[in-house]
Amino acid sequence: MGHYFINDESLTHNYKTINFHYKNRDFKFTTDSGVFSKNHVDEGTTILLNNLPELRGKVLDLGCGYGCIGISLKMTNDIDLTMADINERALELAALNCKNNGLNNISIIQSDGFSNISDKFDFIILNPPIRAGKKTIFKLYEDSYQHLNKHGKFIFVINKKHGAESSIEKVNEIFNDYEILYKKKGWYVISCELV
Ligand SMILES: C[S@@+](CC[C@H](N)C(=O)[O-])C[C@H]1O[C@@H](n2cnc3c(N)ncnc32)[C@H](O)[C@@H]1O
Repeated sequence: MGHYFINDESLTHNYKTINFHYKNRDFKFTTDSGVFSKNHVDEGTTILLNNLPELRGKVLDLGCGYGCIGISLKMTNDIDLTMADINERALELAALNCKNNGLNNISIIQSDGFSNISDKFDFIILNPPIRAGKKTIFKLYEDSYQHLNKHGKFIFVINKKHGAESSIEKVNEIFNDYEILYKKKGWYVISCELV
């Protein structure tokens, strides 16, 4: 089975339209084989979206997949949005989903972590690519710290069974503090501020 974070152009397309309800709005997203959570918006993603503070300024949807986080946030907050992912198929879908939801001028970047991103952000939002492994995920945490504006926040979701405890330990090392925005049934939403 292919991994959702690997570019595999040979993978047969299997486009689907999925529905998502967020803050009294109905969204439709096109998904495809080879991208994360193609049949429905992921539970962790939904928990993350439902527990974010009000956003402002420059926001990065890191590992955007087909764009469900960034698009939902852009439609409900006054923000300057950037979306980035390593997977080109996911990015094509993210661009299509922006267009289909009436969003123009969204910066969509192909990037392995922050390799093609030099900007700094007020918020970086992440549902981490668990299957890419701890080394990759911890690097995303470290590099997020380097790409925040002062008082900017890095906010991510993680489940206990996917290593929430070691992730929390890691971000505490990097940021020297963290806040738990949500904790239930193994799920955590963690916010770390650059002070
Ligand atoms: C758990 S999925 C989340 C996708 C989307 N944000 C969502 O909530 O449905 C993680 C995403 O990170 C991407 N990813 C994996 N490794 C990456 C890397 N090194 N740099 C950037 N994105 C990466 C994957 O392609 C995938 O789209």
